[in-house]
Amino acid sequence: MDIRFQAGGADKWKADIALIPIREGEKITDTCPELDSAAPYLVIAPAMRDVSGRKDEISLIYGHPDLPYSRVMLIGLGREAVTPDSLRRAYALGTRRARAMHLRSLQIPAFTLQRFGGVDRLLEEAVYACKLADYEVSGLKHRKPGDPEPISFLSVNFTGEYVPEKEQAAARRGEDAADTVILARNLINTPANMMYPEAFAEEARRLAEGTALSCTVYDEKQLSDMGFNAHLAVGQGGKNPPRLVVLEYTPKGHENDAPLVFVGKGITFDSGGISLKPAANMHTMKCDMTGAAAVLTSVSMLAREEVPHRVVGIMALAENMPDGGAVHPGDVVTGLNGSTIEIINTDAEGRLVLSDALTFAQKNWHPAAVVDVATLTGACATALGDQVAGLFSNDTELADRVISAGNCAGENYWRMPLWEGYRGRLESTVADICHTGSSREGGAIVAALFLEHFISEGARWAHLDIAGEDWVSEAKPLCPKGASGFAARTLLELGRGGFE
Ligand code: BES
Ligand code: ZN
Ligand code: ZN
Repeated sequence: MDIRFQAGGADKWKADIALIPIREGEKITDTCPELDSAAPYLVIAPAMRDVSGRKDEISLIYGHPDLPYSRVMLIGLGREAVTPDSLRRAYALGTRRARAMHLRSLQIPAFTLQRFGGVDRLLEEAVYACKLADYEVSGLKHRKPGDPEPISFLSVNFTGEYVPEKEQAAARRGEDAADTVILARNLINTPANMMYPEAFAEEARRLAEGTALSCTVYDEKQLSDMGFNAHLAVGQGGKNPPRLVVLEYTPKGHENDAPLVFVGKGITFDSGGISLKPAANMHTMKCDMTGAAAVLTSVSMLAREEVPHRVVGIMALAENMPDGGAVHPGDVVTGLNGSTIEIINTDAEGRLVLSDALTFAQKNWHPAAVVDVATLTGACATALGDQVAGLFSNDTELADRVISAGNCAGENYWRMPLWEGYRGRLESTVADICHTGSSREGGAIVAALFLEHFISEGARWAHLDIAGEDWVSEAKPLCPKGASGFAARTLLELGRGGFE
């Protein structure tokens, strides 16, 4: 879906349908008098009477084809206060409906957002929602005759002579955010026979080409020479060898700044390894690289947007498979930071690859902050469900920044404790640290405490456990069944704001 802009008044605007959210009980032509000339039929009694504005109600109203708006879709917002969330939902429902009607283009009259307070911020979300709602899992499924085509363009319309710069920039921000999430979804939805560590690395090289990003890929030999033994242990049962991908973006004049470093868990398939997972829903474990996808797509968009902040993305890639050569439960490895780690349950692989990547991040840069993103524990999904992700941090300012970036993105985080009392669960009789506790209870906290072991004194760090959010099992207005791309936009918003 392309985003276009049209100015010059209603008779210049062309698109199949105008999407207009409406509150319950609202008289649309009172609150948006501009609609009087563009769609005068909206004030005619039947339309006025039939539209209630109840939450999620969709009303289609048709006028003479010569009118600027011959089709209007009014989308009910209900009575509650209008929020970015409720607007995203309304525009997403509207887009899905327009697509189901085989329409090819949408328009948003920018003035219709005025009454909700501040056109530009809401326009950003409107564009984001329309574009994301039009996403479909594509590439491998053949299109059947009669299937609705994607919407070709969304036009944002202005009454004045010119398209105002501020609003145009806002719409472009929304478009970029949607593109970031869409790319993440595409990478994540790609099955594990096609999206293995080297294939992911190839995507990173391709995205970095011709941009200000530098991309370095370390293969299994280099990782071995460097001492990434925890990472390599996870991948040693897979036919497709592990990779570490590093993307660096340094804007001119910021060479000496401390970067914001993102670290992503990139398990292209998590079978559990020798501690094999049950068969039910195991296929969703192709999504176990959601963290790495969020890092890749956000960092490459930040470079494209030329944000004035230094950002580094580290993606730890491996497949976790059972095999004669796979790591055994009980094995001990020496991680990159020199700690010996006893591996108890091979299904707790994410924290192993992250431990080396976190060490590497702090060794090579002096980060302003390190933020890791991982589909880390089923326990976090049990604790918080699928609407809010776990956030662990040793720094309140950083935690607050993640929460507000998430608010902006429509992705929710709840701060969880790095509870001291559970640290003892990571004691091992044979090694410096054991990588899982003996009980499932409090598993998200224990995993976060394990990661914290690899964070140096004074380093600012946040860990996002998104195990409940990565996979959507029933279609939502903004996301079909499959990968959600969760956290990609949070990282984008964090990077746009920078962190000193
Ligand atoms: N990738 C899983 C976590 C996960 C579970 C993500 C469900 C998304 C949905 C992770 O590697 C894992 O298997 N964790 C184990 C840890 C346990 C063995 C300590 C878990 O959560 O059961
Ligand atoms: Zn696992
Ligand atoms: Zn995993």
